[in-house]
Amino acid sequence: MRLFNNIIVQLSLLALLLVCAQPALTHYTQATKDATIVRSTASCPDCPNSNCNECAQGLRKTLVANTGGLAYIRMIIGFTLPVEKSQVRACHLSLPGFVIPLKSNVTVNFWQAVSSDWDEATITGNNAPDAGAQIASVTVPANTNMTAVDITPACLNADEEGNFSVYVGTQFDRIELWSKESGNPAILHIVDAD
Ligand SMILES: *[C@@H]1O[C@H](CO)[C@@H](O)[C@H](O)[C@H]1NC(C)=O
Ligand SMILES: *[C@@H]1O[C@H](CO)[C@@H](O)[C@H](O)[C@H]1NC(C)=O
Ligand SMILES: *[C@@H]1O[C@H](CO)[C@@H](O)[C@H](O)[C@H]1NC(C)=O
Repeated sequence: MRLFNNIIVQLSLLALLLVCAQPALTHYTQATKDATIVRSTASCPDCPNSNCNECAQGLRKTLVANTGGLAYIRMIIGFTLPVEKSQVRACHLSLPGFVIPLKSNVTVNFWQAVSSDWDEATITGNNAPDAGAQIASVTVPANTNMTAVDITPACLNADEEGNFSVYVGTQFDRIELWSKESGNPAILHIVDAD
């Protein structure tokens, strides 16, 4: 009987080891592209036809979001999953730091873009993909940078090539982040299932 019990204990330990031998892996990948998208009724003398909505701003060193006043400005950030979409268990987005520290708490919202078919050099307010469902909202305390945000639904909605894009905007207020062009791309952390 004692022998039998020992075998049971050993089998249980073996089963536990097998389960623990399959830890979740975290992968990291950098944004493949990022841009600021301006929609405004104001006049922008430096833009084609003085139309703010025709200005491509994807190659600038910073990204801006602003809600309020004449302009509705959001960031769009594109990624390619480094693993098969079916392997994704969770995704978190780390955005670059703020260029200017926040003076007050700011609520930042995230949406999945309906398409990832856009180019940093040519995307404008007029040709940018629409924002689809909102996937997250975080309130960032004054004088801090953003911590990682759970955007798992966006990863699970990636296209067949693993590409997806998210919009980042504010509830009110203006924020400015460093961009990929400044050497500070947004980073995606992916926890996979094997
Ligand atoms: C926030 O990020 C900026 C830019 O990377 C950095 O200069 C600043 O020190 C950070 N602030 C905090 C509180 O970590
Ligand atoms: C700002 O956020 C901090 C930390 O979450 C909170 O303690 C504080 O009450 C907030 N301030 C305002 C004005 O909402
Ligand atoms: C997916 O993104 C890669 C860049 O990471 C790009 O080369 C490719 O054309 C994109 N595919 C689609 C279908 O947009």
